[in-house]
Amino acid sequence: MAPKHFLTLDDLSRTQLLALLARAIELKAERRNGVLNESLKNKTLAMIFDKSSTRTRVSFEAGMRQLGGAAINLNPEDTQMGRGEPLQDTARVISSMVDGIMLRTGPHSIIETMAEYSSVPVINGLTDLFHPCQLLADLQTLIELRGENLSGCTVAWVGDGNNVCHSWMNAARILGLQLKIATPEGFAPAADVVQRNQSAISLSDDPQMAVSDADVVVTDTWASMGQEDEKAARQQAFAGYCVNEELMSLAKDEAVFLHCLPAYREMEVSDAVIEGPQSAVFQAAENRLHAQKALLEILLT
Ligand code: CP
Ligand code: NVA
Repeated sequence: MAPKHFLTLDDLSRTQLLALLARAIELKAERRNGVLNESLKNKTLAMIFDKSSTRTRVSFEAGMRQLGGAAINLNPEDTQMGRGEPLQDTARVISSMVDGIMLRTGPHSIIETMAEYSSVPVINGLTDLFHPCQLLADLQTLIELRGENLSGCTVAWVGDGNNVCHSWMNAARILGLQLKIATPEGFAPAADVVQRNQSAISLSDDPQMAVSDADVVVTDTWASMGQEDEKAARQQAFAGYCVNEELMSLAKDEAVFLHCLPAYREMEVSDAVIEGPQSAVFQAAENRLHAQKALLEILLT
């Protein structure tokens, strides 16, 4: 049965996730070959961004159009949401007019409420707690580079135990990856997410240990959206957590580097690594489009 919403990776079973990723690869090939696919003809996706976005916005809007549908971008400030209309009312009204809602917001409870009151599928385009759409693209990229069987693959997460890290933790449990997380003290992932994914992860404050012999090395900004005021303090706390060539050299020779972007060069990643031969960040960024088209097909049809 198709999932009702996509708020976290746990809304998909392992089988559904693997099927979605296979479909994403197919859709990518279709687009490369100029195949016309109107699987979402006459469907509309409402997109609500409480936070900035480049990739998520463009990939969902382009994806809907490429599949014959349309997307409406709702800037909270231009709508009654910005004037305090209750979320419950907004969810009921918008969902009565469109086929799906994509929401990027802060507290995860907001998207849960949206889903509760929406009569159509709600997609998490990032919350403070999770970023599952990013993982669809990252996993598609790893399958393209390493083949279908990711089970046993060792992934090092270096940096902040944030929303993207949490989604990697879910992915590790669902797909049988081994995730080694290195965060400075005070920046570990959330305890309940750790608890849930215990079997697939290890935690430390040692980037070298995490990266040693890894198949994949991942990082993200040290200051996520909403943490702008903490930027300076975080830069100090994360000293020694930059994924540079020296750190990367501890991973396997063929290791892949991933970053959800936007990236801050010479902070969490050196220019040499993000622009280097092991970096798959732009392949993964493009895959946001293909993976989300596969997700939209599952949820909206
Ligand atoms: N990775 C990602 O979600 O990028 P945007 O913030 O640009 O959407
Ligand atoms: N962790 C980052 C991801 C941006 C795509 C943030 O939440 O700002």
